[in-house]
Amino acid sequence: MNTLLLPAHGQNTAEVAAQIIRNGGLVAIPTETVYGLGADGLNPEAVAKIFIAKGRPQDNPLILHVADPSQIEQLCHHIPDSAYALAKAFWPGPLTMVLPARACVPACTTAGLPTVAVRCPDNAVTRQIIALAGVPIAAPSANLSGKPSTTTAEHVLHDHDGKIDAVVDGGPCRVGVESTIVDLTEERPRLLRPGGITPEQLLAVLGDLVIDKAVTAQIDKDAVVKAPGMKYRHYAPECQVIIVSGSREQAAKYIRSHFAPGDRVLCFAEELALYTDCAPLAYGLEADASTLSAGLFAALRQLDDPSISRVFARCPVGGGIAYAVQNRLKKAAAFQIVDAEAEV
Ligand code: TXA
Ligand code: MG
Repeated sequence: MNTLLLPAHGQNTAEVAAQIIRNGGLVAIPTETVYGLGADGLNPEAVAKIFIAKGRPQDNPLILHVADPSQIEQLCHHIPDSAYALAKAFWPGPLTMVLPARACVPACTTAGLPTVAVRCPDNAVTRQIIALAGVPIAAPSANLSGKPSTTTAEHVLHDHDGKIDAVVDGGPCRVGVESTIVDLTEERPRLLRPGGITPEQLLAVLGDLVIDKAVTAQIDKDAVVKAPGMKYRHYAPECQVIIVSGSREQAAKYIRSHFAPGDRVLCFAEELALYTDCAPLAYGLEADASTLSAGLFAALRQLDDPSISRVFARCPVGGGIAYAVQNRLKKAAAFQIVDAEAEV
């Protein structure tokens, strides 16, 4: 199959992409978070193609992307006031809500759950495609399952060229990590995955938030969890990733003394000079965590190279978007963290 590369601002891009979706094909779509691998979310055969293209486990449900917040009423029932408040505050934007699913949502989209995840992305051409297709678009991150997410059209082509119908090229994604997921089906709202909308922002609207244990710890692969996707090793290059925490100086001391040929260092731009002999790769500025979220996946993809044995990684601390960066990096490291302060 020849994969079409459609520029986001091309004259017929939205029509062509929407037509492919309506015909049951696969189109990779840009969003403000990461690129998604999209199909008609109400068509089981089309959705099945997503799972095959990604090599995605069947028990991992998909997010339905809508063009307009009001569209969730066709997909969900018993929508609480808190969902409307969140939509008003953060949509279009990097927030996904888990709500009770209506019968029109097929089991392959929800992985058999009684709930469905919905999101209105902050990307004009993608919302236009959804509106023209006339159906919600089911779209996981467009990476091959387990690999770092795709934040450029080139990343998508690297993983899927010749296997999907089209990629809409909207340039690099602004946020760079996937949406925040909040489950609104229980008595208390629960954060299932941190992302572009921070816990602080959610709390300001909801007044209450439980942080699911999958956010902060490694989950056994056989465990029953709220967000099935959170239990798999994720976002990871093939090699071992070790997070080294502590002050800039202590971390550099630890990493330099353990560094061996074939290793790499993933660090903040401010630290590059400390690692001149250690093949450093900077993914953003520690002083501006939004540059770290925007650069993380491209860096992890670059480090997904069979010639690399280990990656020593520096991870930001604190809340805001840094919280989402920590979550992704810890998952990439399978929660292997060395405290450089305790090592000296
Ligand atoms: O930013 C994003 O959310 C991107 C873009 C493309 O929108 N999409 C994305 O999809 O990250 P994916 O499939 O890579 O991650 C979706 C996560 C998975 O961990 C999945 O288990 C969880 O959402 N999820 C989906 N439906 C769910 C549901 N009904 N209940 C709980 N978790 C759900
Ligand atoms: Mg994903």
